[in-house]
Amino acid sequence: MNAELRHDHPALRRAWHPLCRSSDVTAIPRREVLLGESWVAWRDPEGSVRVFRDECPHRLAPLSLGQCEGSGIRCGYHGWRFDELGNCVEIPALGPDATIPSKATLRAPAGVHESHAMIFVAPEIPLTPRPNLAADADPTFWRGDLPVLRSRGHAGLLADNFLDVAHFPFVHAKTFGDSEAREVPPYHVERDGFTFRATYEHDFANREDPGVAAGLRPLVQRRRLTYRYTAPFHLELAIDFLDAGGSNVIGFFLTPEDDETVRIYSSLWRNDLEGSHERLQEAIDFEVAVVNEDLALQSRYERLALPLDLTSEIHTRADRTTIELRRVLRDFVDQAGATALP
Ligand code: FES
Ligand SMILES: [Fe+2]
Repeated sequence: MNAELRHDHPALRRAWHPLCRSSDVTAIPRREVLLGESWVAWRDPEGSVRVFRDECPHRLAPLSLGQCEGSGIRCGYHGWRFDELGNCVEIPALGPDATIPSKATLRAPAGVHESHAMIFVAPEIPLTPRPNLAADADPTFWRGDLPVLRSRGHAGLLADNFLDVAHFPFVHAKTFGDSEAREVPPYHVERDGFTFRATYEHDFANREDPGVAAGLRPLVQRRRLTYRYTAPFHLELAIDFLDAGGSNVIGFFLTPEDDETVRIYSSLWRNDLEGSHERLQEAIDFEVAVVNEDLALQSRYERLALPLDLTSEIHTRADRTTIELRRVLRDFVDQAGATALP
């Protein structure tokens, strides 16, 4: 069972996943799918985010078709009203003196957390830490959000793709890939629980650098990549431009939506834009083009599963980060199995 990780693996219920962006959550109920289940989210008048399974306990209608009322929600089918904790407080068909069945409660996830302008949900008690991206709290960085991308694909395979550097000259030949820089230099991976970090430097084609067109710098430049991974599918890539100066941070937060679909929440943080909104938008557009290059391949995998058995693929020294990804996820799956609730 633990030889591979598919989106329907029960262990994934024991981790934090992005449900949506903060700005998506308003006083209008919003439906999102995570791990094959529908969830309803709304923001109460105090600003707190409320998340429950999108299923009314009465006749199992989608609550997201109802309306927020006060801090709670009213089902759109027979009007049962639930408070912000998910307890039913009114059954219109029974009048004001109704005895409310004690089982008339909404099912809440084990954890809801708002950070990085996103809502993270853990369906069951999480074993993994929440992602923490330092640039998000640093006022010298400007943040730009990519549109939320939704694709056929697997969050684990996409995490593998984002950690992988050997594909740059091939998949990204039209954006930043340098066809001359195919060799992956040696690098180290430092594991810490269900997270790891890897750093290395390489040559790349800096097509965004205005200094290239001005003849100040060569097209092929040096940059340092620092990857930070948090299980199961949160990734951060900090890019320090060693020739042109400045830093970029890219965050990827992947949602296993259902067995065949993944959502990609990605944001950029940059401190090298000299106050130009235009350059931020260009950077976002460029990153969308890069991710679409990845998705053109990733969406075509026949088998949407990440192998956790290291003998089922071939690994080289250029694959250290993606080997570590498999090790972390295998340990996570093992721990979830060992601590499963009856
Ligand atoms: S299904 Fe929600 S009130 Fe009946
Ligand atoms: Fe890529």
